[in-house]
Amino acid sequence: AMLTRPPGPLAGRRVLVTSGPTHEPIDPVRYLANRSSGRQGHAIAAAAAEAGAEVTLISGPVAIPDPAGVPVVRVETAREMLEAVRAALPADLAVFAAAVGDWRPAAEQGHKIKKDGAAPPPLALVENPDILATVSQMSEGRPTLVVGFAAETDRVLDHARAKLARKGCDLLVANDVSPAGGVMGGARNTVHLLGRDGALETWPTLAKDEVGRRLVERFAALLART
Ligand code: CTP
Ligand code: CA
Repeated sequence: AMLTRPPGPLAGRRVLVTSGPTHEPIDPVRYLANRSSGRQGHAIAAAAAEAGAEVTLISGPVAIPDPAGVPVVRVETAREMLEAVRAALPADLAVFAAAVGDWRPAAEQGHKIKKDGAAPPPLALVENPDILATVSQMSEGRPTLVVGFAAETDRVLDHARAKLARKGCDLLVANDVSPAGGVMGGARNTVHLLGRDGALETWPTLAKDEVGRRLVERFAALLART
């Protein structure tokens, strides 16, 4: 007999999640990267699928397995991530958990840069597109609920409030990633939820999987009101 489950709280919803770091090539053997294990973003994608959503996970290079039942689009650079996000739209919910490189080398050298005994080569950088801001500020086809993340090492809530306003997203999930906390690469996370209306919630320290499930529950409740 077919096993049927009751429809989850995100049944019929399209969800896109970004996760992991980006790699910005310097030359064929070197890149600039952010620190990110992808664990929190992948946990959100898994929880959204579990809740019945049709999920697309857009991930930079990570060393963790794909979440069960979630198609994964693999990218390397911020520009590739933005293109993959555009291709995954429309969506009801978009969650930007990736640690996107803010800058990339101005030029990618086609050959390996060699030590030539002189001074180290200069590394000129240019700014990457801001994927979260781009999607938050879309005039057509904007997802109903756009969620940003903020990884901060100090004055977490001040920076997060400013970021929420600057990006134009609906909700911001802020986490303290100062090295002493062990959030980076670790299995647990302490998050603060900031709403556009000024609402602030601080959650207890929880496993990233549990944070993912609770966030998805919250997103589903917010979407149900729209
Ligand atoms: N983000 C993005 N594209 C970028 C940079 C950031 O989509 N080029 C998203 C991240 O995925 C996250 C949010 O924006 O959801 C905040 O990222 P963060 O690095 O904390 O913010 P920035 O605006 O880059 O500010 P800064 O790094 O200077 O704190
Ligand atoms: Ca950044």
